[in-house]
Amino acid sequence: MDIVKLSNVANKMVEDNKGLLAADESTGTIAKRLSTIGVESTEDYRRDYREMLFKADGLAEYISGVILFDETIRQKSQDGKSLTAILSDKGIMPGIKVDKGAKSLAGHDEEKVTEGLDGLVERVEEYVSMGAKFAKWRAVITIGDSIPTSYCIKANAHALARYARICQEGGLVPIVEPEVLMDGEHSIAKCEDVTKLTLKAVFNELFDHSVDSSGIVLKPNMVISGKNCQEQAGVEEIADRTIAVLLNCVPASVPGIMFLSGGQSEIDSTIHLNEMNKKKNDLPWSLSYSYGRALQESALKVWGGDNNNNMKAQEKLLVRARQNSLACAAKYEGEVA
Ligand code: 13P
Repeated sequence: MDIVKLSNVANKMVEDNKGLLAADESTGTIAKRLSTIGVESTEDYRRDYREMLFKADGLAEYISGVILFDETIRQKSQDGKSLTAILSDKGIMPGIKVDKGAKSLAGHDEEKVTEGLDGLVERVEEYVSMGAKFAKWRAVITIGDSIPTSYCIKANAHALARYARICQEGGLVPIVEPEVLMDGEHSIAKCEDVTKLTLKAVFNELFDHSVDSSGIVLKPNMVISGKNCQEQAGVEEIADRTIAVLLNCVPASVPGIMFLSGGQSEIDSTIHLNEMNKKKNDLPWSLSYSYGRALQESALKVWGGDNNNNMKAQEKLLVRARQNSLACAAKYEGEVA
């Protein structure tokens, strides 16, 4: 394992207040996103949409890397250039989602475990040969009546650690993503408890699998109230509780923590990141973003399936990327009308 190389890439991912664009929606998820703008999810539409995002002028100022889906890393633009090359030519690192999705956990129907370890060694080798620098694996933890079970947390943490070790051996920086979902009526205190349990389990497993924490990136949820909770916690409480959990669970040697947005609005995702960085003082890791919906929502709407709208849609993406980059520096000052 070349830990110097891995650690350089991990540091580059969070350097200069940059973040990641998560554009690795699986075929099912991108179909859901496209259906919100009335567009059928064909391979050409998926390519056109992502090509539009990647070609945004000036994107590299705010975005260090893009997470791709298997289909996308193999796709060519309308004028025949690989989408990966479009990114690399701008100095943006391509990354790749390598998990095969969250599936029902046998014996625990309401819970999920992420699959995709079979053949992973070979897939990592191929992705490295295609220019990928980092990988992503998302585990999903659901809060509900009597869940999550410790079995579900353990099973997901174990898979995350096996994935992470395989990636490091193969030369990819693993993004370790244990997402505690915001769906539900639970309080922020419950989210804090479950996030803490989950991160503890994940870092224990990473340790057991000899994953070098200086060559990973953590992609966690923020600690927030359940979407349907009567009492919604405010910005300060979210920032305080999230930082407290991270300090409790994440080794100082991890270079970067890049949050997912998880269904928060575009603006909330920026405000919360900004607040955490305002409180930062001397946190050991960089706090940044690896957003999917919170970078793409407005851009997708404006694009609407019509390439004549590309420039307007790119401007929407750039606004969100710029604002989140400002939030990494604790310099976000609200939206300009
Ligand atoms: P969201 O920011 O939309 O949660 O997506 C991030 C991601 O990559 C989920 O795996």
